[in-house]
Formats: sequence, C-alpha cells, structure tokens
Amino acid sequence: MRVIAVTNQKGGVGKTTTTINTAAALARLGKRVLAVDLDPQAHLTYSLGLMAHELRVSVADCLSRGLPLSEAASEQGPVTLVPATLGLAGLERDGAGGADREHLLARAMRDVRDFDFALIDCPPNLGLLTVNALAAAGELLIPMLPEFLSMQSLGMLPRTVGVVRERLNPGLGSLAVVLTRFQKSRKLHREVLSMTRAHFGERVCRCVIGENISLAEAPSFGQDIFRYKPDSAGARDYLCLAREILSRRAL
Ligand SMILES: Nc1ncnc2c1ncn2[C@@H]1O[C@H](COP(=O)(O)OP(=O)(O)OP(=O)(O)O)[C@@H](O)[C@H]1O
Ligand SMILES: [Mg+2]
Repeated sequence: MRVIAVTNQKGGVGKTTTTINTAAALARLGKRVLAVDLDPQAHLTYSLGLMAHELRVSVADCLSRGLPLSEAASEQGPVTLVPATLGLAGLERDGAGGADREHLLARAMRDVRDFDFALIDCPPNLGLLTVNALAAAGELLIPMLPEFLSMQSLGMLPRTVGVVRERLNPGLGSLAVVLTRFQKSRKLHREVLSMTRAHFGERVCRCVIGENISLAEAPSFGQDIFRYKPDSAGARDYLCLAREILSRRAL
C-alpha cells in the first residue's frame, strides 16, 4: 500500500480538493483507495457527503482509543473514507497518546492493508496531526498555489522531511509538488511554475491543476469531480495527476 500525505502548512492551497479528486481518479483507474480525513475542519468528510451526526466512529476515536481505522471506515462512492469530526481538535490540543503520540495514526493504519493507496488530508499547520501523517506516510504530495510566497515557503520543506525521516519515520520517501488553481493566461503563474521547476526539478508534477469552478462546486453536492462533472477540465487534470502518480511508482 502506498501511503500519501497531502500536506502543506499553508491554508486554502487545494489539499482537500486534491485528496478527494486524486483518490477518486485512482479509484477510476482500478485502484482500491482509502481516504483519511485528518483535519478537524472535516472538509474531506463533508465533501464526500457525510454529515457529523451520521458518524458512529471517527478518526479521532481511532487515534484516542487505539482502535484500528477499519472501525471508522465506510464506502463513500468509489473510495473508502475514514471521516473526521471537530473532536479531532481536542486530540491536537490535549496531546493524547503520551510518549507515542506522534505514531497514533501509523499504529491505527496497521490493519488496513486491503488498499493500493491511502491518501491523508492534513490540516493547515505543522501540529501533532500533521506530524502523525508524516510519521505514517511513505510519500508526500504538496499542493501549492502559483504565487511567489507559496514557493518561498516550500523552501523549508526538504529540511522538514529530513528531520521527520531522522526522528520519526525512516520510511518517509520522496515528495512531489503539484501546482493548483493554475491559470495559463497569468504571467505570474507561468513564472512561478518555471521557477518551481527550476528549484525542485523532477519533484514538481508534470500535471498541473488548473483553476476550474466545477472543482469548487462539487463539494456542495457531496460528490467528487468525476461524479459531478466528468467532462470538466478539473476531472481531466486530476486524472492526469493520478496517472502520473501511478507512473512514478513513488512520488
Ligand atoms: N483547481 C481549483 N479551481 C477552483 N477552485 C479550487 C481549486 N482547488 C481548490 N479550489 C477551491 O479553493 C478553496 C480551498 O481549497 P481546499 O479546501 O481544497 O484547500 P485546503 O488546502 O484543503 O484548505 P485548508 O487549508 O483550509 O484545509 C476551496 O473553496 C476549493 O473549492
Ligand atoms: Mg483542507
């Protein structure tokens, strides 16, 4: 199973949109995909059409009570979802788990081996939940807006990965950056893309996710882009990304 954490400590860069639609695209390509919502905002959960009051068990229960993720998982369309609730914020705040608090997710994932991929949607910070995702992941997918400061803040990333590898997870492999909300007509976007490629080289995905209103609309229908608008540019872009992830073997 390839475990991919979709992460960027910056908010609103397309982490959740990328998690849901890459997961759905991989499922369309015949892969068995688990999507884990590790953000107390629970946007991934809502985007897949699940409401908080419908949840019996959430990822927060698994982490705080040591339950396997399978206890919380349910099929939501083409992917299997481990949902989140606001309760996850308490876990971050109270620091459950004592000495082993960074490995709660890795431990809860031990029993989920029936999948080809697990995608983890991270919150927009470098707190305990994100650290748990980094400790459980084999690869990182970093959505990034095509803006100058976004590129600047990625400069720290290789170092962070180095520290995580050394202290928490020697199995953490490579990372890939994917540009989101890209507009070809904007000179700034084209410049940031070429600068990002110059700096990160092969680690920048060839596929770029363009600005597409259908991607923003789909969550309000509780649908991924392939159910909502299969012919949209957004569907095409995320299928491109999923194929690239498959062809790279590791990001
Ligand atoms: N390619 C796109 N085209 C148009 N809108 C997009 C695109 N990608 C994301 N959006 C919209 O941008 C907003 C932020 O996206 P998203 O929620 O995926 O970011 P995020 O990084 O998960 O945010 P947070 O840090 O709060 O978790 C959302 O309203 C989403 O619908
Ligand atoms: Mg999000």
